[in-house]
Amino acid sequence: MTSFINNGTSVSLIRLCLYAVAAALLLSDARLNAYSAPLQTDSSLQVLHWWTSDSERKAATLLANRLGDEGIAWRDAGIPGGAGIGAGKVLKSRVLAGNAPEVTQIIGISIREWDDLGFLLDLDKVSLANKWNASFFPTVQNLIQPRKHVVATPLGIHRINTLFYNRKIFAALKLNPPENWDELVATAAKLKAAGITPLAQSSEPWQVTALFENLILAESGPEYQRELFVKQSVPAALDHRLIDALERLRVMKTWMSNPVEERPWPEVVRQFSKHEAAMLIMGDWAKGELNGMGFATDDEFSCAAMPGTGKYHLYSVDTFSMFANDLTRVSAQEKLARLIATPAVQTDYNAIKGSVSVRRDADPSKMDSCARASWTTFAQGATVQAPSLVHRMATDESTRDAIIVLIHRYFTDDTVTAAQTQKRLAAIFHTFNINNHR
Ligand code: BGC
Repeated sequence: MTSFINNGTSVSLIRLCLYAVAAALLLSDARLNAYSAPLQTDSSLQVLHWWTSDSERKAATLLANRLGDEGIAWRDAGIPGGAGIGAGKVLKSRVLAGNAPEVTQIIGISIREWDDLGFLLDLDKVSLANKWNASFFPTVQNLIQPRKHVVATPLGIHRINTLFYNRKIFAALKLNPPENWDELVATAAKLKAAGITPLAQSSEPWQVTALFENLILAESGPEYQRELFVKQSVPAALDHRLIDALERLRVMKTWMSNPVEERPWPEVVRQFSKHEAAMLIMGDWAKGELNGMGFATDDEFSCAAMPGTGKYHLYSVDTFSMFANDLTRVSAQEKLARLIATPAVQTDYNAIKGSVSVRRDADPSKMDSCARASWTTFAQGATVQAPSLVHRMATDESTRDAIIVLIHRYFTDDTVTAAQTQKRLAAIFHTFNINNHR
C-alpha cells in the first residue's frame, strides 16, 4: 500500500479507496459465482494493451493466433497512446466501473501497485510448473513477483537507449555511428551542414522525457540514474549532472525539425524511414516498426547505443497480468501466461516486436545485430541495467507523470532555465520523500 500513496496527494488516496472498493466488489462477485453454480470454464479472454502501431498489432496477432491454437479466443482491446498513456487511464476507469479485462498489459512498478490492491491473479502454479525462476533474468523475475507471489507473465525486454542511423546518409557523408557526446555533436554538425535534419523527434511529453533519460544515463551511468529516478534523492537532483543533461537536451533540440511537432511515435519512425532525418533515438519497438515497413536491419538502417551508453541497458520489460475477477476464466488465463513465456513464442513474438527474449536460454546467434546487442548487454546483470522512468520501471505512475510534465515544459518553453527545472525537480523529490517517511 505504501508505494501507492507515496506521493501523498489526496487524489491518490481517493483513488486508492475507490480501487479498494472496486476490488472488494469484484472479489465478492467472483466468490458468488463460485458458490452459486458449478464452474463453467469460459475460453475467451479480453486483452487490454497499448499496441496499436502496425508492427505492434502484428506481434499481438501472433499471440492471439497461438492462443487460438489452444482453443482460446483473444478479444482485443487495444488502446492508442504510446508508452501506455491512454491504456493506463482506461484500465483504471474500467476497474472502477467493475468491468476489468481478464488480461492487461501493466508493466514495471504498476504491477506492484495493482498487486498491493489484491486485484491480480496469482500465477505461482504456472511459474513453478514451468520453472520460471530458473528461466528468466533475475530483473524480470523481480518485476513479475513484486511481493510474495508471481502476478505477471513476461513478454519481452525493450532497450530504450537505442540510436538508429540511416546507413546511406552516413555512408554518403563518411560518418561513423557516434559513441560519445562529442562525436554526436560533430555528427549532427556535419549532417546540418549537408542540409539534413540530424534527429527525428516528437515533442510528445513522454517522448521528450525518454530522450532526457537517455541523456541522464549517458552523463552518469545506472547508479546515478537510480539515485535520481528510483530513490528520488534530493542531492542527486541538485547534482551538476542534471544541469548538464538538461542543457544537452536544449542542444539536441536544434538538431530536430523546427518546430518540433507533437506526433505519435510511429510517425517519427516514418520520418526517419523516409530519410527526412538521419538519426532516431527510441526504444527498439522502432526496429519492429521499421522491419514491418520492409526495412531490414543493417540494410537501410542500423542500431547503435545512445552515445555514451554503449555499456548500459535502459530497459522496459513488457508484461501481462490477469485480473482475478472471474473464476471461470482462470484456466484460460493460466494457459496464456504459460504460452507467452515458452521459448518458441518468445522467439517469434520478440522478432516481430523489436524486443528480446526474457529467457536466459535464448540463443543470441539467432537474433539480428540490434537484438543481439540488447540481449547480451542485458544478460550482464543489474550493474549495467537502468530501469526506464518513462516506461514505469523506476517509479510509480504519479511520480513519473510529475517528472514528465516538468521536463516537457523545459523542452517546449525556452524561457524556462535548467536551474529552475533543477530546483523544481528537487522540490518534487523533497515532497515525495516527506510523504514516503510519514
Ligand atoms: C512498451 C512497448 C511499446 C512502447 C510504445 C512501451 O512502454 O513497453 O511495448 O511498443 O511503449 O508504445
